[in-house]
Amino acid sequence: MSTTEVRQAVQPDVGPAYIRAIAPYQAGKPIEELAREFGLDPATIVKLASNENPLGMPVSAQAAIGKAVAGLGRYPDPNGFDLKAALSSRYGVPADWITLGNGSNDLLELASLALLSPGASSVYSRYAFMVYRLATQARGARHIVVPAADYGHDLDAMFNAIDADTRLVFIANPNNPTGTFLAADQIARFLERVHVQYGDRVVVMLDEAYNEYLDPELRFDSARWVEQYPNLIVSRTFSKAYGLAGLRVGYALAQPALTDLLNRVRQPFNVNTLAQVAAIAALADQPFLEQSYQLNRAGKQQLVQAFNDLGLRYVPSYANFVLVHVGDAARINLALLRKGVIVRPVAGDGLPEWLRVSIGLESENQRFIQALQQVLAGE
Ligand SMILES: Cc1ncc(COP(=O)(O)O)c(C=O)c1O
Repeated sequence: MSTTEVRQAVQPDVGPAYIRAIAPYQAGKPIEELAREFGLDPATIVKLASNENPLGMPVSAQAAIGKAVAGLGRYPDPNGFDLKAALSSRYGVPADWITLGNGSNDLLELASLALLSPGASSVYSRYAFMVYRLATQARGARHIVVPAADYGHDLDAMFNAIDADTRLVFIANPNNPTGTFLAADQIARFLERVHVQYGDRVVVMLDEAYNEYLDPELRFDSARWVEQYPNLIVSRTFSKAYGLAGLRVGYALAQPALTDLLNRVRQPFNVNTLAQVAAIAALADQPFLEQSYQLNRAGKQQLVQAFNDLGLRYVPSYANFVLVHVGDAARINLALLRKGVIVRPVAGDGLPEWLRVSIGLESENQRFIQALQQVLAGE
């Protein structure tokens, strides 16, 4: 037997109070965990909880990974030269305008690390992506949470909420968990107002994780805004429509001064080798992206039709999930779990009567719809 004395590792009052105040991020429940908890066969479980691509990873990216595996004894390229070159030609911006992240979540953290500190504040909307709150809290900065309009961002109110200590404004477009969308002219007007009024002092982080799911007529080229506004960061991800959530890779576009700032707080090897090669392959795989978009569009119709039939209210979605009003969401969620269907409760986002349902394959959506019908009928 070891004679080493086991000491309590961390005293509860160690570290800044603002860190201890953080409520950890609640991720979607993994399939294996539900299988263990309820004694279910993992193969029968449907997970529509984390806004992942139901098509999985593109074959093109799998092939790229296969080729790169033998080189994993070495560190990744710390500057992501090839991936930045691919992104640079896609968006028509120089490579030194691009920052790579371990998922776009990393970029939100980097922006908060570079720009926020105790004594500063960030502005974000109620019901906006939860990481804005976490990233602000982790820097000890002040939160300015702006009331939502129809579950989406109220940009006029957000502009008016900017304070003397504000350094960062987060905007999710489309937003998670509500799926709401701001049209290009609304964003353009906001960016112009912020820059005219505050210059470079207030940075806007435009988080476009779900951009590729927008209908073509709603899409806009946000890289052109980055050229116009030195106080803008646009972030995107390979986790959603590109199907690489498990690899963790995202990117930000910003002018060189801001990009340089993000790079100062970035871990040198924050994006691993497999993620870099897979992202290059996925970026070039237009057919997969189109298939993902079409599948999502059809699946959204399928869910919305079912919600209409069931008389359930939902927020019209521009992303790969739908927020639906079910009343006692905790109870309904538990009943769905017992039937092997994992969706996302959003009480932690201040929406205790709602569930967020990711759009899956047609058969998965059908499983969910059937389970929901049964649960609502008390079965
Ligand atoms: C609005 C939004 N931004 C960013 C992210 C981060 O995703 P990732 O880190 O996988 O790129 C998510 C993930 O769900 C999201 O919903």
